[in-house]
Amino acid sequence: LAGKPGGGGGGAAAGHPLPVPAPVAADGLTLTARRTAVDLGGGRTGSALTYNAGCPGPTIEVQSGSTPTITVTNGLDEPTTVHWHGLVVPTDVDGQPHEAFPAGTRRAYTLPVQQRASLNFYHPHPHLRTAAQVALGLQGALIVRDAEEAALGLPAGRFEVPLVIRDANIDKQGTLTYNGRASGFLGGVPLVNGVLNPYLRVDRAHYRFRVVNAANSRVFRLAFSDGRPMTLVGTDGGLLEHAVDLSEITLGNAERLDLVLDLRGLTAPVQLVDRDSGWTLLDLRPTQADVSQTAPVLGRQLSVVERLVGPAQPSRTFSFDGMTAINGVRYQMGATSFQVQRGQVERWRFVANGNPPHPVHIHGASFQLVGRTGGRGQLFPWEGGWKDTFLLLDKESVDILIRFDLVGRYLIHCHKLEHEDAGMMLDFEVVEGGS
Ligand code: C2O
Ligand code: CU
Repeated sequence: LAGKPGGGGGGAAAGHPLPVPAPVAADGLTLTARRTAVDLGGGRTGSALTYNAGCPGPTIEVQSGSTPTITVTNGLDEPTTVHWHGLVVPTDVDGQPHEAFPAGTRRAYTLPVQQRASLNFYHPHPHLRTAAQVALGLQGALIVRDAEEAALGLPAGRFEVPLVIRDANIDKQGTLTYNGRASGFLGGVPLVNGVLNPYLRVDRAHYRFRVVNAANSRVFRLAFSDGRPMTLVGTDGGLLEHAVDLSEITLGNAERLDLVLDLRGLTAPVQLVDRDSGWTLLDLRPTQADVSQTAPVLGRQLSVVERLVGPAQPSRTFSFDGMTAINGVRYQMGATSFQVQRGQVERWRFVANGNPPHPVHIHGASFQLVGRTGGRGQLFPWEGGWKDTFLLLDKESVDILIRFDLVGRYLIHCHKLEHEDAGMMLDFEVVEGGS
């Protein structure tokens, strides 16, 4: 299906305009999760689980330093929660499995957002049902803004485009379907911002693409069809110190990228592709229109990234073996595995033996990768800066430095959502330090 026109259309104009959900302010927002009609671009109107009738839902914008309240209405026929992936917020608004609320009820989340500018995303996190609810459509982008980033003058307005990338199965009626098992879920077609075969008309200008891998299990190896460089300016936790040009990026589940593209010289269409599946994800079609835009200055330092300093040896090791447990322990809601002291930098080691890839995600803090041995044996530019999720392949050992600034209960889990639901998740507690 991918790369071929859907029904009707025909010729060079085939495909569907990329939907760009208009950004909405977080404070006072109500998100309603329910099944609604959707047009995924396959020529039929089917249905999906949606937030405010969108799949993805609205792109939420939050100013750093503000404390918006978002109300979620559960119009599904089962419990749900919303996790604000990438936001560092108190346990009771983190949307964890034990906070799921029943069908037909609502829940207000008051989110003190103190962190730097970054692209995050929101999705359900109910016990045993996360993978299905996400695959059936529930997810959306959430952008944090701050003054440091605004001062850079990166492409904005219609030149800043969130790309929520996932794979999916769609039945003949045009409805999203899901048949994942503990080992994972690989859908048959790609969706970008909820449609098949999207195209975007682009002027001769710089564009900023905010990319999230919102797939349950699929890892994307992103590149442009003509091999043109993508300028990476940020990752999960916001801006890097320096921009870096890359011709290919491996993006694990729940990881994010902040990319700037210089399309001033574009004369013919070029495609964003996934080199692993061979899929075309997005067709960029030049309008040949020049626009007056101040070109972003990317050759200088973009931001200041505090460098964590910590122990040379890991204080804890987490083994991701199989697909149902961490360190041989299967997730049990309410069971706390260990305690960490607030404010202390710890070095944690993650190792994998079998059933890769394991996209490792930690709630409650951003962290920094400091080394990888085995497997790919190195860290990559897209793993720089502040991270909350990273890819762990078989036989790899990855060390991170992490510091928690909030006390409370948080989670470590595999973000291959089928592994998470099967029990590859554990609960820990951040406590006030002694003395
Ligand atoms: Cu995006 Cu605990 O998840
Ligand atoms: Cu896993």
